[in-house]
Amino acid sequence: MIQIKNSVQIESMRRACRVAADVLDRLCAMVAPGMSTLDLDMEAKALIEQYGATSASYNYKVGRLRYPSYICISVNEEIVHGIARADKILRMGDIVSLDVCVYVDGWVGDNARTVSVGPVSQEVERLLRVTREALDIGIDLARAGNKVGDISHGIQTHVEASRFGIVREFVGHGVGRGLHEEPQVPNYGQKGRGPRLVPGMTICIEPMVTMGSHRLRIGQDGWVAIASDGKPSAHFEHTVLITETEAEVLTLPSSGGLSK
Ligand code: MF3
Ligand code: CO
Repeated sequence: MIQIKNSVQIESMRRACRVAADVLDRLCAMVAPGMSTLDLDMEAKALIEQYGATSASYNYKVGRLRYPSYICISVNEEIVHGIARADKILRMGDIVSLDVCVYVDGWVGDNARTVSVGPVSQEVERLLRVTREALDIGIDLARAGNKVGDISHGIQTHVEASRFGIVREFVGHGVGRGLHEEPQVPNYGQKGRGPRLVPGMTICIEPMVTMGSHRLRIGQDGWVAIASDGKPSAHFEHTVLITETEAEVLTLPSSGGLSK
């Protein structure tokens, strides 16, 4: 069942998403060489508390596994679901993907961004730009009357035309009281397929893009997804509301900040 949110529920989603966006925006501004990913996670924990929110990632369960960090922090060849570690130190030339999902008054906001630590190569700059563009294309296609497959196809086409890989194993999703609701929003697929988009649906669009092969493996900790060929990977995500016209991006920081 795909939930259609009413105006009161949408207001709650707006609040949760604004917090998720502000936390992500402030964390991205803190990223600096010499910091560990655990330092960033502790900053995330403090910020989330400061906003009166709770992490939707912390203790997230898949089977018998519980996710142990407050946000996901994935460095370079790590694609998503990186776990914070004291011995994982950010260095100049790295890229780091931060994925912040929070509960505010029982509603979820979810967003992610990849930032560079100091200057990076032109090819890595291009990876970040193309991933960000793929998200924008997905948002543009997230219109009432379109199908989920239109979003999927638009993202895949842009990424593959740019000669990058699009991840298959993880997908975007509906979001609301739950972090993962229906429908699934794959980043690959065919136009005109899948559920029809209807005003009042709230979905997360989140392309995960690899510089080389899209193949991945799961790390020793059972969570982190790593590009099999060891090449860098980027991830951008927004929570959006389907309206009668263009989608409303709910995860915009109140500052107007770094993200669109
Ligand atoms: N933002 C991620 C998603 O869209 C959240 C992952 S939570 C984790 O699924 F606990 F599984 F890491
Ligand atoms: Co998500």
